[in-house]
Amino acid sequence: MVDSRMATVLASMVVFSAAAYAEDTPGIAIPPAIQSEVKALGCDACHGWERTKFGPSWQNVADRYRNQATYVYKGFNINSVGEKLPLVQGLVTKISKGGKGEWNEYIPMAPNDPNGVHAKEITDIVNFILSVPPKK
Ligand code: HEC
Repeated sequence: MVDSRMATVLASMVVFSAAAYAEDTPGIAIPPAIQSEVKALGCDACHGWERTKFGPSWQNVADRYRNQATYVYKGFNINSVGEKLPLVQGLVTKISKGGKGEWNEYIPMAPNDPNGVHAKEITDIVNFILSVPPKK
């Protein structure tokens, strides 16, 4: 009796952990260079492709900005008028210098590259995020 209940509990734990570690990938192949840039810059601590973590999933980012040409960068002052930039440049600025208020009120994204040392890698990542197709 106890044994079979234990087995049920164990079985459900296996199912749960399988779900927790399921592949978190967009609907297109991630180029290896993008994968290693994301890891090297530590973006994956807060972002998944499909999974929302501290920050939005990049699938949701792709869906939100698809067909948009510009991005208004407001930094940490969500009540400011902000600076209207071309989309890719705007998102790169947000990631590099940080900011908040676009996805949630309380959790900001800290600056990831305040001195612009990794501008190329971050631009590559943004271009790839924006190329992710709608989820089927
Ligand atoms: C410490 C956690 C953390 C790290 C590390 C992090 N982010 Fe974020 N990111 C966030 C949060 C939180 C938000 C949502 C901010 C908001 O609501 O405006 C966000 C937002 C974003 C957005 C959407 C911006 C917008 O205004 O719509 C993109 C794109 C993004 N991050 C990419 C990246 C990339 C690329 C990296 C690595 C260079 C990175 N993030 C590293 C937490 C993080």
